[in-house]
Amino acid sequence: MKRVQVKTGSPYEVTIGRGLLPMAGELVREVIPPCRALIVTDSNVAPLYLDTVQKSLTDAGFSVSSHIFPAGEEQKNLDTLAGILTALAEAGLTRTDLVLALGGGVTGDMTGLASSLYLRGVRYVQIPTTLLAAVDSSVGGKTAIDFAGRKNIVGAFYQPIRVLCDLDTFDTLTPEIFRDGLAESIKYGAICDEALFRLFETAETLDMTEIVSACVAHKARIVEQDEHDTGLRQLLNFGHTAGHAMEACSNYRISHGHAVAMGMALMARAATRAGLCQDDSARRIAAVLEKYGLPTASPYPASALAAAALADKKRRGGSITVIVPTKTGTCVEQKLPVDELESFFALGMEEDL
Ligand code: GLY
Repeated sequence: MKRVQVKTGSPYEVTIGRGLLPMAGELVREVIPPCRALIVTDSNVAPLYLDTVQKSLTDAGFSVSSHIFPAGEEQKNLDTLAGILTALAEAGLTRTDLVLALGGGVTGDMTGLASSLYLRGVRYVQIPTTLLAAVDSSVGGKTAIDFAGRKNIVGAFYQPIRVLCDLDTFDTLTPEIFRDGLAESIKYGAICDEALFRLFETAETLDMTEIVSACVAHKARIVEQDEHDTGLRQLLNFGHTAGHAMEACSNYRISHGHAVAMGMALMARAATRAGLCQDDSARRIAAVLEKYGLPTASPYPASALAAAALADKKRRGGSITVIVPTKTGTCVEQKLPVDELESFFALGMEEDL
C-alpha cells in the first residue's frame, strides 16, 4: 500500500493499493470517527462494489445508507445533483457526518459538488473505481456538473478528506476505459517526469501501484502550488485544448482519454514544427500512445478544432494559453493569439515528422 499526502489548504491522503475496499471502514476511521455515512454511486458500480464498501463501513461502526443514480456522462447535470442533495437531506446528514463517492469521474465530480453545497460543506471521501478518476479527477478538489450545454461550468474547489484508490477495481474496466486512464497517466510522464515516461516506453507489464502513485504524487505537487488553477495547474491540461475540441466535435462520442491522447500527439507535433520543442518528444509521445492502443491522429481538421476550442471558451480576440512540450518530461505554457490557434493546430496535423 502507498500513501501520498496532498498538502492543500485542507490536507489529505491518497491511499493506493490492492484490496482497499474491504478495508474502507478502518481507513476512513483514520480521519473521521464513526458517524452517519451516505455512499453515492451509479448503477454500473453499485452491483460490483457497493455491498463491500457498505459492509466495511458498517463493521467499522458507521451508520451507512446509499444513493444510486443512473450511470452515464449525460447524468452529470442539475437533476442528478438535486437527487444527490435530496438523498443527503433525507438521510438526515449533519455537518459532522460523511459522504462517500464510489465510482468514476462523474460520480466523484457530482458527489464532491453536492458535499460542498449541503449544509455549506460536509466532509467527503473519494473512492475512484476507474484509472482515469484515480490519477486525475479524484485528486485536487475540482468538482462540477455540466450546465447550459457546457462541460464542468458549475462547480467548486472542494477537497476530500481522504482518497481510497483500490487498484482491484480496475480489473472490471473495459480495455477502452482502462486506456482512457492510461492516456492521462502517460500525460504526467510527458509534462513532468521523463523517467515515468520511459517506464511506459520500456515496461512489458505495468506496475499499477507504481504508476498510480507517481501520477498522484505529481498531481499533488502541482495542486499544492496552485490549488485554484490560476497558473501551474494549467500544465495538467496538456493535450486538453485540442482534446476537448475533439470531444465536442464528436458530440462526446470520443471519450476523454482517447481525445487527450490525440490532443497530446497533435500538440507535440505542432510544438516541434513551431520550433518550441527541441527533442524527439513528438515521436516518442506518438509511439508510446500507439504502444497502448491509443489514437494519435485527429479525425477533425484544424479549422473545426479551433472553432470548437474557441466556442467553448466564448473567446473573441485576445489570447489562449496552450501547453506544449519543450522536451520529453517538460512542458510549458504558450500563449497564442486566438486567431493563430487554427494554424498552430494545423502544424500538428501531418503525422510524419
Ligand atoms: N483535471 C485537471 C485539474 O485537476 O486541474
